[in-house]
Amino acid sequence: MKFFLDTANLKEIREVASWGVLDGVTTNPSLCSKENVPFVDNLREICAVVPGPVSAECVAMRFEEIVPEARELARIAPNVVIKIPVGLEGLKATKALASEGVAVNMTLVFSTSQALLAAKAGAKYVSPFIGRLDDISEDGMGLVEEIVQVFENYRFGTEIIVASVRHPRHVVEAALLGADIATVPYAVMEKLVRHPLTDVGIERFLSDWKKVSK
Ligand code: E4P
Repeated sequence: MKFFLDTANLKEIREVASWGVLDGVTTNPSLCSKENVPFVDNLREICAVVPGPVSAECVAMRFEEIVPEARELARIAPNVVIKIPVGLEGLKATKALASEGVAVNMTLVFSTSQALLAAKAGAKYVSPFIGRLDDISEDGMGLVEEIVQVFENYRFGTEIIVASVRHPRHVVEAALLGADIATVPYAVMEKLVRHPLTDVGIERFLSDWKKVSK
């Protein structure tokens, strides 16, 4: 399973990259709005730090505008992936960009039919937002399960990025379902490695070690 960090914060990205488990990054306009730095400069620097794909989102909504915006973003660095919200205009743009070799991450996916169309249009990634579904009492992980099944049925090469991750259990369940990628906020990434019994165990070993004759 690949781990992406869901952030536009360079400090967080550098930190997780130093853990040796970072495969990519996803940003979005809301995450970028939290950083007090020019968008393009920040994106360029993120792309230099990350050893993998970095999603940057288009804000244009019509095919004629999405395509040039995407091309401009793609020119920033070779590892930029273009995030496009799923929809008719987005699908058309995805088809055109995919045929030019531009990698697209279709985002804001909330149904299996959206994911299926995104894959058919040539998206390299689809991002089902599971936390936002859970927030409204729907079954986010059930959506991932369906998309995994459909992509297997038809051998789509499109990778599933489990997005809108809220807690470590989301990551574990995504892994059990065989999702290709989880994009994880920094706070959740930290929680993934912690366990209270590990902390207690270390404490006990260290205090017992003091009693060992050396
Ligand atoms: C994914 O690519 C999105 O950036 C992200 O996971 C959205 O998560 P949120 O629902 O916490 O905003």
